[in-house]
Amino acid sequence: MMQNEPARILVSLRDVSKVYRNGTEALRDISFEVRQGECVTLLGPSGCGKSTVLRLIAGLDPVSSGVLTHERGETVGPDSRCDMGFVFQEPALMPWANVFDNVFLPLRLIGQRRKETRSKIEAILAQVGLSDFQKAYPNQLSGGQRMRVSIARALVRDPALLLLDEPFAALDEITRFRLNDDLLRLRETFGTTFVFITHSIYESVYLSSRILVMAAAPGRIVEEIAIDASLERDENFRLGETYLAYCRKVTRALEYASGARV
Ligand SMILES: Nc1ncnc2c1ncn2[C@@H]1O[C@H](COP(=O)(O)OP(=O)(O)OP(=O)(O)O)[C@@H](O)[C@H]1O
Ligand SMILES: [Mg+2]
Repeated sequence: MMQNEPARILVSLRDVSKVYRNGTEALRDISFEVRQGECVTLLGPSGCGKSTVLRLIAGLDPVSSGVLTHERGETVGPDSRCDMGFVFQEPALMPWANVFDNVFLPLRLIGQRRKETRSKIEAILAQVGLSDFQKAYPNQLSGGQRMRVSIARALVRDPALLLLDEPFAALDEITRFRLNDDLLRLRETFGTTFVFITHSIYESVYLSSRILVMAAAPGRIVEEIAIDASLERDENFRLGETYLAYCRKVTRALEYASGARV
């Protein structure tokens, strides 16, 4: 890529609205785009339409009006790359399959063989710190470990874009910090672009290159906050002035969006 050339747009929403069949206006005139390499976070009160935005991007639901376009991710080989991975709040693993087979599933579904994909799956499990748990079953894992399996499963087809809907909400703070660092590392290793939902102001600032603050009824974007700091972050970033200043700024925006301060 030439210097200063802006990164490719992976997904773009233009005046996207969503009205559910029961008449609920979940989203009104949502416009934003996600460029390759970004970590974009959707932050906002419960019911403001965050999950709806992800579902529309994933194609799980149609938009009611407006335009949503995807730019296809670069292809690195036949059947080896798909455009998107989705990580849900609940890891939703197959209880009867061990860790290895849970991660293998998306590849099995496109006709790949266990033998040919073994080294790839082992590499991804190593990346998420689960090398010693390949043969374990989901009910033998902690919540954090289950979430790691879910992330590994979403990464196994090399998605250009990873959509994560509050993946760490049920985890304790320390596990959450660890997984936040893991995500940033995975982003570097795999070059994945993230769209991430969280309720945590601190997590949003730590993980994002840009935060879209949303308000409810109807769901809309009320503020966009770019985090002007490299995504190579660690504990030092969390202890620094820049981080705190952004946390304050995001807190104010969220208070405004939630109607607590006008
Ligand atoms: N399938 C559906 N049918 C009708 N209304 C829906 C449906 N799914 C969501 N809604 C409504 O759309 C609005 C946005 O819901 P959504 O789940 O996107 O919010 P959210 O921001 O993800 O909330 P939370 O933080 O609680 O997960 C809410 O008013 C919700 O009740
Ligand atoms: Mg939601």
